[in-house]
Amino acid sequence: MARYWLRVVDYDEYKPVKSTGEVIGFQDRWGDSVKRIKENDQIITYVTRISEFTGLSIVTGGYRFDKKDPAHPHKIKVEHLDVSPVPAKPLIPQLTFVTNKKRWYVHFNKSIYEIPAHDFEKVKRELLDRRRGKEAGEKKADEGRTRKLKEEISLRAPTGIQGLDDILEGGFPINSTILITGGPGAGKTILCLQFLLYGVEHGEPGVFISMDERPDDLRKEALKFGWDLTKYEEEGKLVIVDVSYPRSGLPSKEKYQLEMPFTLDMIVRKVYEVISEIGAKRVIIDSLPAFGLHFEDEAEVRIAIHRLNNLLLSSGCTSIITSEIIPGNEGVSRFGVEEFIARGIILMEIYREGKEFHRAMTVLKMRETNYELRRFGFKIDPKQGIVVLPHKVVFFDEASRFI
Ligand SMILES: Nc1ncnc2c1ncn2[C@@H]1O[C@H](COP(=O)(O)OP(=O)(O)O)[C@@H](O)[C@H]1O
Ligand SMILES: [Mg+2]
Repeated sequence: MARYWLRVVDYDEYKPVKSTGEVIGFQDRWGDSVKRIKENDQIITYVTRISEFTGLSIVTGGYRFDKKDPAHPHKIKVEHLDVSPVPAKPLIPQLTFVTNKKRWYVHFNKSIYEIPAHDFEKVKRELLDRRRGKEAGEKKADEGRTRKLKEEISLRAPTGIQGLDDILEGGFPINSTILITGGPGAGKTILCLQFLLYGVEHGEPGVFISMDERPDDLRKEALKFGWDLTKYEEEGKLVIVDVSYPRSGLPSKEKYQLEMPFTLDMIVRKVYEVISEIGAKRVIIDSLPAFGLHFEDEAEVRIAIHRLNNLLLSSGCTSIITSEIIPGNEGVSRFGVEEFIARGIILMEIYREGKEFHRAMTVLKMRETNYELRRFGFKIDPKQGIVVLPHKVVFFDEASRFI
């Protein structure tokens, strides 16, 4: 699992980075941190006085002690990416490791320290965004090596779920569709809500297409965790589309709903409308099997799923579709197509150990991500929602799987 580091450089000592590799050294007192830096970790550089993030680097050579350089004996080797500096101040409100927002600069007084994956992702996105802007003007062609590095650190949509972003190198790859699968009660809907709300709170409006649950139930469940959906709905940052009432043939009081009897075209059109209306960047479809129940013909459902997915991708959204495992079925989804459209699949399970039940999450597939194919324990915390425990790898056999 890669780690994410912030390196703070004194303005007086700062030299603009070279585009080739470089060995960087740290003073003796930072030795314990530097020893934890491994190959493929990523580093953002911050420069004091000008208060700017100036660099993005990948570690290409792990820790080494150089006794010939007593001032900076703790060494690592890095490759720098071509980025443009970003002022730190406007980003401070969004960075969770900066807990003192007033005297925020106190958080930039260590030479090197680990920061959460989602904070890293925020700054990284800015550094790369500016780079793209610059390139557009100059039409500068990428050299092969820079391009390769860029591919290695694709942009991420943080889930905001503690532990999960660490496993996923910062989040889902942006502009992709992720399938979350698992039995009833596994925690799929809660995961979706967390992902959507993290986006909404960080400038990415969201749409929740609710097939199973009535919007009011969803709002109540969320509020139990302290997440106020109504507030964001009123601010126009979040839309819940009610498909649950129409599916059961009852009238809905919701502002956003599908009228009965609805067709595939109507669903696709509705999704398109709401995405455009609020400029959504994150979309949830919960759940896909519910979507299919209404249609007799499985081939028709498959075509609809493809169309929906194309729509989500062309709108630049990062989306989650939820599905269920059918016991005894080899695949992880119901229609056998979800796996093929999804750029990532996460399986959520409940298993038994003696008399106790526990939860586990496995990333089965995630493009552009170097993840560990292991079951990780997770819990549903009454305050924080889902919390993944990246250091708790669990093992169980099929007989112990409950759902
Ligand atoms: N406020 C809460 N505090 C703690 N756990 C909760 C809370 N609300 C729901 N849960 C847990 O989450 C489970 C439901 O999760 P959900 O995301 O709705 O499952 P799924 O969508 O996979 O069917 C419940 O069975 C319960 O164990
Ligand atoms: Mg659910």
